[in-house]
Amino acid sequence: MRHLLSIADLDRDDVERILETAEALQGVDEKLPTLQGKLVLSLFFESSTRTSSSFELAAKRLSADVMSLKAAGSSVDKGESLKDTVLTLAQYDPHAIVVRHPQIGAPQLVARYSNAAVVNAGDGKHQHPTQALLDLFTMRQALGDLEGRRVAIVGDVLHSRVARSLIQALALVGAHTTLVGPPTLIPRGIEAMGCETATEIGAIGDADVIYVLRMQRERMESAFVPSLREYAARWGVTPARVRPGQKVMHPGPINRGVEIDGRVADSPDSLILEQVRSGVAVRMAVLHDLLAADSPVRERTAVA
Ligand code: NCD
Repeated sequence: MRHLLSIADLDRDDVERILETAEALQGVDEKLPTLQGKLVLSLFFESSTRTSSSFELAAKRLSADVMSLKAAGSSVDKGESLKDTVLTLAQYDPHAIVVRHPQIGAPQLVARYSNAAVVNAGDGKHQHPTQALLDLFTMRQALGDLEGRRVAIVGDVLHSRVARSLIQALALVGAHTTLVGPPTLIPRGIEAMGCETATEIGAIGDADVIYVLRMQRERMESAFVPSLREYAARWGVTPARVRPGQKVMHPGPINRGVEIDGRVADSPDSLILEQVRSGVAVRMAVLHDLLAADSPVRERTAVA
């Protein structure tokens, strides 16, 4: 693996290898020397709490040097383009660049203008591959093998890079996905990605996992639902709509009382905080896969 730009670039073996590495790394609480002398650059042109902090922590746990740049306060504020920002930062010879950007395809551009391994930490509504990997990891830890398991992804699929990556990742491991939400927020033709769709919230009834998406108001140019109150009434994940034992997930940040009731988010069947914890191990595994000298992929590439 040279870059991680999209789940579409991975096959099932890649996913298994990354999740196995994550499992091995999860229990380790001391700092590992694996990425000593490597520079990981973190470039966030959009807000982030979980993704940016867990990448930074993951890189530090593997002894990499980390340099973080956020759009606010950088020369991006002065109108510098992504190309010029990357050409500039590439002079520091980073080994990896983790990038989040509102524009689809921005990580590909970063890969073009630097020699670093590029990890897509979210590009517009397109892809967020490490989120999908950490979601698979979390589901596996809770449920075991995901082959034949049913996952309902509920809410604003239209604006969600998390949903697009997760649909592909679940298909790779043999799970069934149903998208549930208002017709205005389920993209037409998305079934071609290997999932089913439903507009009634009752469709979450037979899911093993209810994966709730945030209403992405910042990406909505017009009103997709009459009001957030009405959305909550018809599609909100409330205690009455969840069976005991059904696992509930959400990539965060959550809007309590909109897409998810606070009592569901805080219930024992909620895996939301586990997802955050998994994020560190899975991002360590991804950085290991891309950069470590003893990564199985690197060894194979060296022999070939
Ligand atoms: C998501 C994102 O930024 O795509 N959050 C995350 O990375 N945990 C989802 C969201 O913003 O709703």
